[in-house]
Amino acid sequence: MLHRYILIGTLSLLFSFASCQPSSKTTDPSIESKIEKILSEMTVEEKVGQTCQITLDALFVRDEENKVVEPFQLDPKKLKEAIVDYGMGSILNVGSHTFTLEEWAYVMKNVHEPFENKKTQVPIIYGIDAIHGVTYTVGGTLFPQEIGLAATWNPELAAQFGDVVAYETRASGIHWNFSPVLDLGRAPLWSRHFETLGEDPFLATQLGDAIIAGYQGKGKIDPFHTAACLKHFVGYSGTVSGRDRTTAWIPEKYLKELYLPAFKSAIDKGALTVMINSGDVNGVPGHINHNLLTKTLKEAWGFKGFTVSDWEDFTMLHTVHSTADDLYGAIVQGFNAGVDMCMVPYNPQYKEYIKLMIKGVEEGKITKERLDDAVRRILRVKMLVGLFDKKMNQANKYPNFGGKAHQELALNTALESITLLKNKDNILPLDAKTKVLIAGATSDNLIFLNGAWTHTWQGADSSYNTKTAQNIKEAFIQKLGKENCLFSQGAELYVEDDFEKSRLVNPDDFTAKAKQSDVIVLCLGEYPSTEKPGDILSLNLDAAQLELAKLAYATKKPVVLVLVEGRPRIIRPIVENAAAIVQTYLPGDYGATALVQLLFGEANFSGKLPYTYPRHDGIMEFYDHPKSTARAKSNKFDAYNPQWNFGFGLSYSKLVYSDLTLSATELTEGDSIKIQVKVSNESNRSVKEVVQLYIADEYASVVPANKKLKAFEKISLAAKETKIVDFYISSENLKFVDIDNQWITEKGSFKVMIEALSTKFELK
Ligand code: BGC
Repeated sequence: MLHRYILIGTLSLLFSFASCQPSSKTTDPSIESKIEKILSEMTVEEKVGQTCQITLDALFVRDEENKVVEPFQLDPKKLKEAIVDYGMGSILNVGSHTFTLEEWAYVMKNVHEPFENKKTQVPIIYGIDAIHGVTYTVGGTLFPQEIGLAATWNPELAAQFGDVVAYETRASGIHWNFSPVLDLGRAPLWSRHFETLGEDPFLATQLGDAIIAGYQGKGKIDPFHTAACLKHFVGYSGTVSGRDRTTAWIPEKYLKELYLPAFKSAIDKGALTVMINSGDVNGVPGHINHNLLTKTLKEAWGFKGFTVSDWEDFTMLHTVHSTADDLYGAIVQGFNAGVDMCMVPYNPQYKEYIKLMIKGVEEGKITKERLDDAVRRILRVKMLVGLFDKKMNQANKYPNFGGKAHQELALNTALESITLLKNKDNILPLDAKTKVLIAGATSDNLIFLNGAWTHTWQGADSSYNTKTAQNIKEAFIQKLGKENCLFSQGAELYVEDDFEKSRLVNPDDFTAKAKQSDVIVLCLGEYPSTEKPGDILSLNLDAAQLELAKLAYATKKPVVLVLVEGRPRIIRPIVENAAAIVQTYLPGDYGATALVQLLFGEANFSGKLPYTYPRHDGIMEFYDHPKSTARAKSNKFDAYNPQWNFGFGLSYSKLVYSDLTLSATELTEGDSIKIQVKVSNESNRSVKEVVQLYIADEYASVVPANKKLKAFEKISLAAKETKIVDFYISSENLKFVDIDNQWITEKGSFKVMIEALSTKFELK
């Protein structure tokens, strides 16, 4: 069977996702005139209130020791004070744990009551981190974290993910999602690596655009969609030390080539809000970077939505970054740089913020025009998401919340994400009659599959685990029956003195049970964490988990390593003796079900690494490194030698690539060429394959990249099927940032690579 598979190459099908989204770039005259009317009736105090955001925690009833009384209740006095007296613009988050839909309805009723009863003229916009599902609502559908979504290399799936997350967020009464993270995963040690779409700007752009299309929907935001919030503008993930919220050094060239494109594209597609980088780039804190926030984002890119600070970051300008010698100076710096809303977020600190902002306006340190600009942007987003329509609490409109269709999508996403890294002598798929030992620190609790931002901020409290979802041990028992599924934990992860620790657990029991089984499935990985609590000292997998793998190898039984991790932890010492290695990332509530289906061959693998998997902790490598980075130390090996390459992933099918052809061997400026490749599935199993097209500029005026991903397409191939895939590459796709930090093309020879095939063309 031969099928022709046409695609529009880098002009990508994603443009169709985004064609009629609400726009953060254009304005609607009828909305603008309403905004101007409201603005003209607002006092300075009311305007300043709009720029203020507090956490819901700040509004709870507390006991004498200032602890939140459980079950939580909103304090009517605090509510009135914040919303009516201070004219608060926004509330975020959830308190310490997840809420039921009924509890959300209660929160929303109280939060919107003042506007609905005309006590305020502007409604509150509520924001939440629904980053892999509506993570703070009981019964919400939990998908793989973004890094797992990236491993699907499937923009259509990403758009469907966005659509479901938006639906369930709206079911919870919330209009604004602090997602997606568009930071690039270029510091694997960083605790938030799992929140990224991987290391490559092209992949992150395609998937980011798709997620946003899913979140915001088409046209005016309807009751099933939310505003997206692009995080964290920009360079946050480039931390030099690997620690959260620390300095990144990013030359302008790489800011333009790597870190900005996903944000720029998302703004072009209509993303409504942007959250700012808590760290600093080249010594300039994200929150005072006028050049990026105002000149680039708002003026050059034409962004008309609003920017929000990250947690307490105006205060941090004074207390951490030390760019202002008091809070007043910090507020003036941040606001004037272009931050429109401040996530203060505490009580009574918000009162101080509002007081100092008013002082800033009165003393002329903040101009009335700048204040109006910020408020205009906030009102615009509030109108676009429908908050002025006064139909906020309609939980009964969402019958699909947490339902079967959503769960199936989460399962499919996990199935397309989980990545097969090694399969020696085809040990996989496992036979359903195999006797298996399930072991390892991440094998018997859902918290490991979900990671942080799940029911709680750090995601480590299992009391909120979804009752109907399975952990890895449970999914294996369901598949094999208790008699064929032994269990011994073998090692455990825990936190002590603020750092992740591990220890062996009853190793004799582990070895004894290993000897009774045919295969050992050893689940390794990380303790759930994010942000500062997730800082670690080394990327190496900890000693106890490595030791457990060695105990497993000593039994001479085949060992399948299952990685459950947000960061690519270095496992070099245990790779060689493993029979198979599977990367699950953080696959969510349906990850264990998906893993079992894949390991037993009920489904085929199609996930591909969205990052370069490092081999040594002293060398961080990226596939698109400047050519000079790979200068070898001796003639024996190349210096670029990761554990696994970006884009790598095996399947159960034998795929053969052939007939790489070009429509022309010469390309002129402004023109494009067609690149064609044939992909054959020689196996008897259907499979999905990500066809990846890379281009290398052979010589350039600055060191060219090793190669760059320029197009990809995930195709389905039936057993024995062959397809021809077409890509179109134009001279635009060959641009790079030159010595003067300008995007240019240079004439010369370009190498095209698809899988092991390559060819060349000349830009004339
Ligand atoms: C994180 C943001 C998040 C915000 C609100 C911050 O600490 O950096 O990503 O959206 O908290 O929860």
